[in-house]
Amino acid sequence: MKKLSNKIAVVTGGNSGIGFAAAKELISEGATVMITGRRKEAVEKSAQEIGATPFIADQANLDDIDLLKKEVEKQFGKVDILFVNAGITGTLTPIENMDVENFDQVMDINFRGAYFTLSKFIPLLNEGASVIFLSSIVASTYKPNSSAYQASKAALNSIAKTAAAELAPRKIRVNMISPGPIKTEIMNKAGLDEEALKNIKNYLIDQIPLKKMGTAEEVAKLVTYLSDSEASGYVTGTEIVIDGGMTL
Ligand SMILES: NC(=O)c1ccc[n+]([C@@H]2O[C@H](COP(=O)([O-])OP(=O)(O)OC[C@H]3O[C@@H](n4cnc5c(N)ncnc54)[C@H](OP(=O)(O)O)[C@@H]3O)[C@@H](O)[C@H]2O)c1
Repeated sequence: MKKLSNKIAVVTGGNSGIGFAAAKELISEGATVMITGRRKEAVEKSAQEIGATPFIADQANLDDIDLLKKEVEKQFGKVDILFVNAGITGTLTPIENMDVENFDQVMDINFRGAYFTLSKFIPLLNEGASVIFLSSIVASTYKPNSSAYQASKAALNSIAKTAAAELAPRKIRVNMISPGPIKTEIMNKAGLDEEALKNIKNYLIDQIPLKKMGTAEEVAKLVTYLSDSEASGYVTGTEIVIDGGMTL
């Protein structure tokens, strides 16, 4: 019997990067997984590749979250693993130049959408369920040009801890994973040209004691660890950092 047999998992933003790797890993451990994302073709292709169920939903749209919840309830009844992973950096820019659309998009996806995904799924969570928020080490760093992204992840960490306290009576655990730089598509969507991207990657690697970026698969292993109550049943309200030593 696999570790996560008979477990139902929902992974937001499961068609790319960390969400995709986590969905794949959860399935390999026996879970039944639904993945979401906004791009229909990408969501369906990824779901087919790993044997997940696709659902098109924008985490920033509360009606979409309601539809997702209804579909999960219809197909599976209950949820054991809720991995709230979908997120964007937004266009990186100094506070002085931030426009309200950019600010709202980051907050609506990374914070407001994550908050209401949890809020609306609470009635569906089984006793002993595991909720995992994909945060970031930027939640507690204050680098220039990343103000909204950093603040969105700091806010996420705050609600994760409150949720851990609120849901403990139902034996539901709530934790955060905070990666440092991980090789995914996310930085290619940050509004930077190729030269700037290359410079940032080199700069980051230089700052990381282990001198490399992490992989989505390494983060996925933490997702399965936190999903497995045999392994992590006493872990709640905690942030697990995976950053090659960058925050040392
Ligand atoms: N990569 C890193 O270095 C790093 C470090 C720390 C934290 N993180 C966090 O890790 C999470 C995953 O990022 P990643 O690196 O794996 O990036 P990625 O490869 O760009 O994947 C992001 C995923 O989120 C989905 N997504 C984005 N906005 C969405 C929305 N409004 N509704 C539903 N799905 C949405 C995307 O699908 P669609 O485009 O189809 O919607 C995609 O599946 C994010 O929360 C990010 O902040 C990443």
